[in-house]
Parts: sequence; C-alpha cells; structure tokens
Amino acid sequence: MSRSVTVTAPAKINLQLGVGAARADGFHTLATVYQAIGIHDEVTVSSATETILSVEGDGVDVSEVPTDSSNLALRAAALLAKHADLAADQAAVQMSIRKRIPVAGGMAGGSADAAAALVACDALWELHTPRQELLSLAGELGSDVPFCVVGGTATGAGRGELVHPLDDTGHYWWVVALSERGMSTPAVYAAFDRWHAGVPVAEPEVRGDLLAALALGDPHRLGEALRNDLEEPALSLRPDLSALLDLGGRPPALGSLLSGSGPSCLFLAANEPEASEIRELLAGTGVSTLVVEAPVPGARVVEQV
Ligand code: C5P
Repeated sequence: MSRSVTVTAPAKINLQLGVGAARADGFHTLATVYQAIGIHDEVTVSSATETILSVEGDGVDVSEVPTDSSNLALRAAALLAKHADLAADQAAVQMSIRKRIPVAGGMAGGSADAAAALVACDALWELHTPRQELLSLAGELGSDVPFCVVGGTATGAGRGELVHPLDDTGHYWWVVALSERGMSTPAVYAAFDRWHAGVPVAEPEVRGDLLAALALGDPHRLGEALRNDLEEPALSLRPDLSALLDLGGRPPALGSLLSGSGPSCLFLAANEPEASEIRELLAGTGVSTLVVEAPVPGARVVEQV
C-alpha cells in the first residue's frame, strides 16, 4: 500500500530585517531575527509512478502558484532525491499543498512549502537525513527555507539562510493585515538599492534591544525594538501601506512594521483582547486581517499513514 506523509510548516515574520549591501551574487547580506507565526501550509506526499502536484487554497488565492517543476516544493523534493541518490522511479511523488499563508505576502509561503516538502519526503523515503544536511539543502532552495524548517525565534545571517535558534520564552499576539496585491521580493530589494545608491551601506547587526526584549519575553520592549530596513523602499512602491501602518500602529498596538518585503503589515499586541481591538480599528479600511500567536515550531510531521 502506498504510504503518505503530511507535514505543516509555518509562515515567518522578521522582527528585525537588517539589510546590508548587495553581494557579488546579487543577494544582500542580512542580520535578521525571524519568528514563526501560527499560520501554516500543509504538504502531503505519497509515492507515485509519476511526479504530480496539486495546490489548493484555504482562504488564499493560489492562482499565481506554479504547479510545474518550477514550484519550490517540487524542487525541494528533487533536490533531496538527488542528494540521497534515489533512482527516478523511487523519487516520484504525488504532492498536494494546502495553502493558508498568503501568496507573495512577505511571509515566506513558498519557502514554508519547500521546508515542508523536504521534511515530508525525508520521512516518506525513510532517509533520516542529518539535520545539518537538511538545513544546507534548505539554504540552497531559498534564503528563508532553513528558518521554516527550524521555526520558533531565530537569528538569520548570510543571505538569511544561516539560522541560529534563540531562547524565546515569550508568547506574542500579532495582527497581520493582508493585501490584495502581492509584492515581488526582488523588486523591493532593487528599490532598497536605488534608495541607497551612491551611499555605502553599513554592515547590518542584530539589535541588542531586540535580543534583550526576547530574552525577557517582554512584548512592550519588543514593540519598541521592531525594525525593517525594507520598509521605506517597499513603501516607496506601495505608498498606500503607510496609512495602514499608521492606523494599526496606534495604541493599543505595541509596535508595527512591514512583514519582510511586504505587503503584509504586522501589529504587535499585548494580549488577545487588544489584538481584537487592533483588528476592529482596521476593519473600516476593508483590509482583511488575521490574529496569530507566536512563536510556533517549524516544519513537522503531523500525519503518517
Ligand atoms: O532566497 P530567495 O529565493 O527567497 O530570494 C528571492 C529574491 O530576493 C532574490 O532573488 C533576491 O532578489 C532577493 N534577496 C536578496 N537578498 C537576500 C534575500 C533575497 O537580494 N538576502
């Protein structure tokens, strides 16, 4: 009988996204602090005679998600199969992705799917790939993929793929404001380059006040320490987001920022009732919002039959 494995992987936000200069390979040096939030995509894989992918949205528009071999989750399966020297007939999978993470929203939805696919195929093929090898494959697939495997709260260096978990005892409530139109990550990094044209960009560093807030698990301090170097360049492409950030960032929000390269916006709340208040404040804008808890674990097997 054909086995099947289901894995969930979380969306990520960046509590700090410190961006440095573009490297020779075009990627930017990052000093970031990731946090995994309670929105998950689900990937199910089973053995098949031929690789096929289906993508279904759970309250999310998936019309822009490719279902051919360019899909990052299928590329993850192919990369792991190659790494493990599997023959083509052993490596064929039927994969289905159920998406709840908004597409092109700055929350690493595609990276979460790739992380889930790696963990799912590793279990399906009973490879027991050592963690460091899996993370290194994840890093080949994309800058955010290793963090989606690890989850929790973690720093990210290099182009974001070098992840070190942080001891985060806090429990946080976030309001996520979604956008109907997605944003292209390369376009936002290009805007960052134009923004800094002719001026040397300082080497980014993880902020001490942010690490102290996390060590204390103090949402008030965390709210003050949130920073995203892509915010100004992204807002230059989407000025409409400024008003949204201002509105949701008023009390009771403890802080606000753009999520990753946008366009989703994040508002930190001290507790669930205050998160609901922020949501109500934003209701008049017509923008759809979610309340999520964080941090949550990374990619993990939720069903194996
Ligand atoms: O690594 P990932 O595929 O997620 O990156 C998507 C795009 O975002 C890259 O092609 C690049 O344009 C930009 N990027 C960057 N520097 C990073 C991460 C991403 O310039 N550290």
